[in-house]
Amino acid sequence: MSLRFHEIIEEGIRIINPFTAEKLARVGEIVQPAATTNILDLCCGEGEMLSQWAKTYGLHGTGIDLSHVFSASARKRAAELGVSDQITIIQGDAAQYRDLLPDPDQSFDIVSCIGATWIGDGLVGTLELMRPALKESPNSLILIGEPFWNMEPTADVLKAVNFPPELYLTLPATLQRIRDAGYNLLSMVMADKNSWDHYKTAGWINGFRWLAANPTAPDAAELRDWLETDQMRYMTIDRDYFGWGVFILSPTD
Ligand SMILES: C[S@@+](CC[C@H](N)C(=O)[O-])C[C@H]1O[C@@H](n2cnc3c(N)ncnc32)[C@H](O)[C@@H]1O
Repeated sequence: MSLRFHEIIEEGIRIINPFTAEKLARVGEIVQPAATTNILDLCCGEGEMLSQWAKTYGLHGTGIDLSHVFSASARKRAAELGVSDQITIIQGDAAQYRDLLPDPDQSFDIVSCIGATWIGDGLVGTLELMRPALKESPNSLILIGEPFWNMEPTADVLKAVNFPPELYLTLPATLQRIRDAGYNLLSMVMADKNSWDHYKTAGWINGFRWLAANPTAPDAAELRDWLETDQMRYMTIDRDYFGWGVFILSPTD
């Protein structure tokens, strides 16, 4: 899906993932950031995690997102929660985060990428990309949000979703992939069917409302087609086949 469609469908969805505010808060309870914690959130979206944790724990953070629309929403959200002085939002390509940070050698207590591992061509590449920004400390953490297969996909399912077979794995195979990449899985918080439904349906209603308000837009037909295809695919495949979780990791070395 194009960035423009993402922006139409996901604008105003504070957590752009199959996750709820409660589940995000649960990750915070596990991580227990301190007021001195500094976090780098790659592909921060509308910055809900950064702003909520700045408010709850007093931490400081930097978020990077490609979208002007989401970056503006993230700044607005930080202001709404009264944490603008603790949060910096940078618009740009998170794969190039070193070039975007004011100090390219800055390191962070937590480096996160919640639901955007395409920036490193998959889970392993994204972990490699994130690692140089992680402070050398036994308490440093990587947070990564990633889909997994609830059951082995059939050949027909793989064809329908059009993903390379090795892009996502089952949960145990994802664990092995994390270990092979050099990380301990300390904890995890999982999406469930309700949080998946919540996320998907929030996007559909945004999309159909946009179509109603912009019936003659040049890409209206394309968006309608995308929405209808997405709804059918979600109900026939994704809802049963896909899990998603935030994995809380520490380096093994
Ligand atoms: C699935 S959303 C997740 C957003 C956020 N982490 C959250 O949990 O709400 C993916 C985000 O990645 C952003 N994005 C996509 N490609 C990017 C890139 N190369 N660099 C930075 N952000 C990117 C999108 O604009 C979108 O906000």
